[in-house]
Amino acid sequence: MERKNCYFISFILLIVVWLAGCDSYAEPSELPSVPSAAEQDHTLEEDVTVIRTLKIGLSMDTLVEERWEKDRDMFKEAVEALGAEVEVKAANGNDALQIAQAETLISQGVDLLVLVPHNAEAAATIVGKAQMAGIPVISYDRLVKNANIDLYISFDNEKVGELQAEAITALVPEGKYVYIGGASTDNNAHLLKEGVYNVLQPFIERGDITVVYDQWTEAWMPANAKQNMQAALIANDNDIDAVIAANDATAGGVIEALAEQGLAGKVPVAGQDAELAGLQHIVNGEQAMTVYKSIKSLTEQAAEIAVRMASGEVIETDTTINNGKKDVPTVFLTPVAVDKTNIEETIIADGFHRAEDIYHGLPNK
Ligand code: BGC
Repeated sequence: MERKNCYFISFILLIVVWLAGCDSYAEPSELPSVPSAAEQDHTLEEDVTVIRTLKIGLSMDTLVEERWEKDRDMFKEAVEALGAEVEVKAANGNDALQIAQAETLISQGVDLLVLVPHNAEAAATIVGKAQMAGIPVISYDRLVKNANIDLYISFDNEKVGELQAEAITALVPEGKYVYIGGASTDNNAHLLKEGVYNVLQPFIERGDITVVYDQWTEAWMPANAKQNMQAALIANDNDIDAVIAANDATAGGVIEALAEQGLAGKVPVAGQDAELAGLQHIVNGEQAMTVYKSIKSLTEQAAEIAVRMASGEVIETDTTINNGKKDVPTVFLTPVAVDKTNIEETIIADGFHRAEDIYHGLPNK
């Protein structure tokens, strides 16, 4: 071949190669069978989806009461045992902070959000934002009102109130009662109160029981519960026969106020949560009962549902509860009444607290 022809053929070949490499000129059928950049990206994305670890966001109101650290740690452990990850944020009882923290979790791309709302109504903002990002939301322990949540898991809080009132009316079937409620911003506080009054109502109607004082406790704080109890004692010249407090922390505040008047141990007090201090109050006779809610069961069930839902599964439940916006699929766990007669077979048997911690330095054992 002549040298000139050879240059010409090389030039044509170069052009063909260049055209073949240029998408806008070549027909797809003419392209080599190497995947296009878009196809490569797609393949990569699919690979990533297959191997990526699911991430659950846990947005908590607070870690103040003893139970919430258990909730956090046991939930994390249960989710990790299922091969997923948890990112936790706690808002110190601050609505604006909880919203900002939830936004961070959403922008970090969590696959599902588990929400313990500080404020039942304000937290609807968080649910709206998660929904916009296509992230399902589970309302944990406390219900988010008027929001499009995907599932609610909790103990039957009305039942908790009923257990408290049943135990206290068995001890004090007649007399003057004080009700120290939880935070009015927490839907659970309303359910607890409903449960208490379900039981008290017939006693009230018969004239056997009079509720002489009934107040919410701002932010569930024991110091506020103590102030309320002091006010109840003053208004009734210390003539109080029984107290139902919405949890063990507020019961602690009540017991302090009673102690100031030399009445601790003389007036039965009910609480809930089976906190260590609550159980110690029971053992030393200053508190009549508490309500045990197995955080292990709650976290394990919540973790399983969260991971299944995060991977796209639709979870069906037997129960629904209306939160003002929709009938929310609901999982209810059963609370258990605990007094000094059954601490052993409930709290200790379950490993919720150790006997040596409950009875530590106390005379009853
Ligand atoms: C929970 C209680 C807890 C209280 C204060 C309620 O919503 O159900 O277990 O003691 O909040 O944190």
